[in-house]
Amino acid sequence: MATVFSGIQPSGTLTLGNYLGAMQHFVDLQEEHESYFCVVDQHAITVQQDKTSLRKNIRSLSALYLAAGIDPKKSTLFIQSEVPAHSQLAWMLQCVSYIGELERMTQFKDKSTGKNAVSSGLLTYPPLMAADILLYQTDIVPVGEDQKQHLELTRTLAERFNTQYNDIFTVPEVQVPPVGARIMSLQEPTKKMSKSDENSKAYVSMLDDEKTITKKLKSAVTDSDQTIVFDRENKPGVANLLSIYALASGRTIQELEKDYAGSGYGTFKTDVAQSVVELLSPIQTRYYDLIESKELDDILDAGAEHANRQANKSLIKAERAMGLGRRQ
Ligand code: AMP
Ligand code: TRP
Repeated sequence: MATVFSGIQPSGTLTLGNYLGAMQHFVDLQEEHESYFCVVDQHAITVQQDKTSLRKNIRSLSALYLAAGIDPKKSTLFIQSEVPAHSQLAWMLQCVSYIGELERMTQFKDKSTGKNAVSSGLLTYPPLMAADILLYQTDIVPVGEDQKQHLELTRTLAERFNTQYNDIFTVPEVQVPPVGARIMSLQEPTKKMSKSDENSKAYVSMLDDEKTITKKLKSAVTDSDQTIVFDRENKPGVANLLSIYALASGRTIQELEKDYAGSGYGTFKTDVAQSVVELLSPIQTRYYDLIESKELDDILDAGAEHANRQANKSLIKAERAMGLGRRQ
């Protein structure tokens, strides 16, 4: 059985982009693979976080994973900082990473350009991500398109470690979903939908209520030409709404184009909103049941225990291969 690993940062309420581009696929993958889903709180502190909100976001993200359909009987759900092997292996992988290759990461460039104080954690973010993945001998990493470069580097680091020390790590494959790998901002549809966008009209949060969802989708930026066809180049706003609608409703883009030929943007947007409401509302109900529950803590405790056991096996092998400590 193949092993799947993925992580999401607890840095704000997840968006519809996170759900359609990541979580929805995690739920499918757990049916066929041994799966690990992680709340990567140590990645979140590469930029300063308020401790009260970080704590709240960690719990909220954990509950959202479960509400979205991650089943603790099938998957291991855990918090990164509760499994110390992640930061231990991250250090070892930093020692096999080159500064140049870390500086070339687009996410690093985006988050550091123009800032006068950039934490070194922002630069060494990818070796920590590599550690997350490699500790579980992961075969498949489902992520959105924006993480492909980090995955490529993870593969490079695994191969380098295996060559320089000992053949310990499985070299993982990235898996990017074909449609909706990138859900775009509702206000600037050439930019990805992000939970850290200053303009809250640019994203639908997974916990937005019906009225808010409808308002945001109705005011999504489109164009003046009034035809509903999928053309990412010339009609990025409409293409994005079509992707969202297709993923939320389980219908194909071709079907939707046919159904909406000749209808105006108004009706189309109302229907997209309705499909998103129908998608998110059962998730929200489960979320509110879980968020204050002891069940959530029990699941996270069991997840951390299992993850620690698995991760330590790889960590010990890697330490031995590098010659750390006294183990022969
Ligand atoms: P992040 O919110 O950056 O921690 O991302 C968590 C996961 O959601 C990663 O797998 C991302 O690639 C994915 N993701 C984030 N934003 C989007 C988006 N707008 N469209 C599709 N996937 C996304
Ligand atoms: N870097 C990822 C993001 O920002 C989150 C992440 C951390 C991750 N560790 C991971 C994703 C391991 C997949 C596997 O989206």
